[in-house]
Amino acid sequence: MRADQSHAGVPAVTLIHPSGAAITTDPTGLTPAEAVAPSPAGSGCPLRLHGSTPSRSITAEGHLLRQHGEAPAVELPGGVRARVVVSHRLAQSLSADSEGISRDAALHWPGFADGTREVEGVIAAWTATASRNALNSYGENHRRLRAPIAAALTKRRVEAMTPDIEAIVEEALDHLANGPNVADLVPGFALRIPHQVIVRLFGMPADLMGPFYAAAAGLFDTSATAEEMAASMERVGLVLEQLVALRRASPGDDLVSDLIRAADEAEDPLTDDELRDQLMLVIIAGTETTVHAIGNILVHLLTHPAQLDLVVRGEVPLENAVEESLRLQPPAASVPLRFAVRDLTDAESGESFRQGEEILILLAAAGTDPAVHDQPDAFDVRRPTARRHMAFGHGEHFCPGAVLARREIAIAAARFLHRFPDARLATAPEDLTLTQSFISNGHQAIPVQLR
Ligand code: HEM
Repeated sequence: MRADQSHAGVPAVTLIHPSGAAITTDPTGLTPAEAVAPSPAGSGCPLRLHGSTPSRSITAEGHLLRQHGEAPAVELPGGVRARVVVSHRLAQSLSADSEGISRDAALHWPGFADGTREVEGVIAAWTATASRNALNSYGENHRRLRAPIAAALTKRRVEAMTPDIEAIVEEALDHLANGPNVADLVPGFALRIPHQVIVRLFGMPADLMGPFYAAAAGLFDTSATAEEMAASMERVGLVLEQLVALRRASPGDDLVSDLIRAADEAEDPLTDDELRDQLMLVIIAGTETTVHAIGNILVHLLTHPAQLDLVVRGEVPLENAVEESLRLQPPAASVPLRFAVRDLTDAESGESFRQGEEILILLAAAGTDPAVHDQPDAFDVRRPTARRHMAFGHGEHFCPGAVLARREIAIAAARFLHRFPDARLATAPEDLTLTQSFISNGHQAIPVQLR
């Protein structure tokens, strides 16, 4: 997921999504004038969701939607209508219903598989089934595709990776230290970390590293068109195919070898194409989210000196700040899309979902639900409810990379603060621009004065 490019003063959003395609949203559809507002009674016009705009965050939009219930009907960019879930309780309950709620559009979105439903824009990209992966699958098929990923992303693997992560972070800090005193932390620091962690995690051999970096750089090229992005994905796919073939022939102590082993041991082993698609999902799901998570916590701490002080003096563990930052600004504000497998009614709220109805769980709203968190919009590293967020989802699709991601964020933040104790934003906080999206939830740039 990536937010980029300026268009008539309003940035467009290029989204890399797990289906294997890429798409740029129409920035002109994101004007503040079209803010969420109550529909005139009887007009039949749904509310509209815009995502973060230059004047309003997706979190603020979530608060406005909350005035219309726990799951108001909303038109998403691209014209698809969906029930947008804004309460933490209902978001958890629906995410945990692995039988009644599906992520598989081909199976559970009427008219999608046979092409009678026209889907455009961002949602078309996110529901496309060109690549079959754990994220867009359901039931037994989901469990089959996910199991090898989860088996490969163990705590043991994260422990073993920790010295590598520390070295990667130190290298990124050296890069910053050797550059100008005012730097953009997004490309200059945050982006370098998950990108290189993935390469080490995959056990990428030296001769594939060059082609991989060249192709993967295209995935994070902020000026790339949708076509260029799709071509980059194809090139990354080719490198991954070679990597799978190599690790089949000579397994090592790496995620790809573990994935192949676990996939082969399964009752219904994964094909090499399926393995490639799961690796692609890991790259996409594990990179930009982590970039934003690192950027978000640094922005939160640098703009809240008293909170930063608590962490630096060791009065509050840095891990609390990590959770509080994930709660307040989850790097994925939402991960489209889910569908009701059958007619459902939530007993507590009375909200009903008809079979095939589209559901978007707004993770950014769940994390700032006032029913769970006092003063939900405040950044408070001592908040007792900080861990009650859904930044990594919930239920069967819960992020299998959460342990790794938390480790990356904590090491990156701790080492940055240690190396640059006097760092401060080089712009007013209100001049930072959020990624203009209802999916990707970070900053487009984080200019910082390092010393
Ligand atoms: C701060 C960083 C990250 C955040 C915020 C994040 C968040 C998420 C979310 C919200 C989901 C969907 C959960 C749902 O639908 O209920 C997800 C799924 C997933 N994530 Fe992460 N993620 C992060 C890092 C990673 C990393 C580092 C990896 C792997 C290296 C990873 C791999 C995956 C995979 C494979 C899925 C699909 C799981 C499934 O559908 O069963 N993520 N992640």
